Amino acid sequence: MSDFTSSFWSWFITAIVVGGIAWLLYLLRANTKSTIPADEIGKPTGHVWDEDLVELNNPLPRWWLYMFYITIAFAIGYLILYPGLGSYQGLLGWSETGQHEAEVKAAEAQTAPMYDKFLKQEIAALAQDKDAMKTGERLFVNYCAVCHGSDARGARGFPNLRDDDWLYGGAPETIKTTIMYGRNGMMPSWEGPLGGEAGVNDVANYVMSLSGRKVDEEAARRGEEKFNMFCVGCHMAGGTGNQALGAPRLNDGTWLYGGSPKAIKTTIAKGRSGKMPAHAEFLGEAKVHVLAAYIFSLSHEDD
Ligand code: HEC
Ligand code: HEC
Repeated sequence: MSDFTSSFWSWFITAIVVGGIAWLLYLLRANTKSTIPADEIGKPTGHVWDEDLVELNNPLPRWWLYMFYITIAFAIGYLILYPGLGSYQGLLGWSETGQHEAEVKAAEAQTAPMYDKFLKQEIAALAQDKDAMKTGERLFVNYCAVCHGSDARGARGFPNLRDDDWLYGGAPETIKTTIMYGRNGMMPSWEGPLGGEAGVNDVANYVMSLSGRKVDEEAARRGEEKFNMFCVGCHMAGGTGNQALGAPRLNDGTWLYGGSPKAIKTTIAKGRSGKMPAHAEFLGEAKVHVLAAYIFSLSHEDD
């Protein structure tokens, strides 16, 4: 209820709940005052079904009636103890978030020894541990699959983590650093420096030629000059990439943002800036350690 700025909704809900209970009480009392004259009790009302099923004129049985009163008493007791009346917290002080936090704490206390054990192992060794990798897979599905896909093969803008093509490097500690502190790819926009569409087209042709594709040779030659001026600083000569900067290899057939001429031109003209969020605080080192081992194991499945 604290999400609301005025107390109107709190009172609104309280009024409906209290009014509802009062209304039920009234209905119950109004309908249990016997209006049947004493000499008619137990006599047929005149309603007959299925030839011989006769309705008799009897008040509600007592036990049936008491059940209604008991449920009302239960509701009142419940509303005193638990939050149910607008922003009233209830005598027990119970809350959903409180219960959730308590459950999370209990679960963490239970798994802490397991994670401590995992944290003491080298990442490469941990990657061979079947139990740890099952835990790693669960963590991955929970925390990473939204971006990298449940099979870790990624999508446009989200790198494939199963292949051996790394933006930042696939060594165990490098993977861990990536997950702990996050990464931020910085590919500037080159439309201006390259002199607009024609310049972008030239460089795109050169970039595509690096992976052996058929290109406009003339344009590629012009593009090479510009590439050596503007791009080598990050992508290195021949487009071999630089993992210290997260600048991808451009001379392979693997594309983070798509390999069509149009996608490559858009990348060069507008720039790209992929963000891998940091997980150190959110997950803690032990879980990140297991995840790093899991990612390491994925890219070494064929070894
Ligand atoms: C919000 C989306 C998002 C989430 C969630 C996310 N990632 Fe990423 N991740 C990215 C993006 C985007 C990149 C590429 C960054 C770049 O372009 O520089 C990346 C890069 C990486 C890399 C580096 C790959 C390479 O080639 O060097 C690793 C490893 C990685 N993520 C692992 C994980 C793990 C493990 C998790 C779960 C704890 C995770 N990511 C959660 C978006 C995400
Ligand atoms: C300051 C360093 C830097 C410079 C200079 C730079 N790039 Fe990049 N480039 C990057 C980074 C980092 C990425 C990855 C962006 C991301 O992860 O979101 C990238 C991505 C790319 C991609 C996408 C690759 C893929 O797999 O989809 C292409 C193509 C590219 N750059 C071409 C160029 C060209 C052409 C130039 C020169 C005009 C250039 N870059 C200059 C850092 C740079």
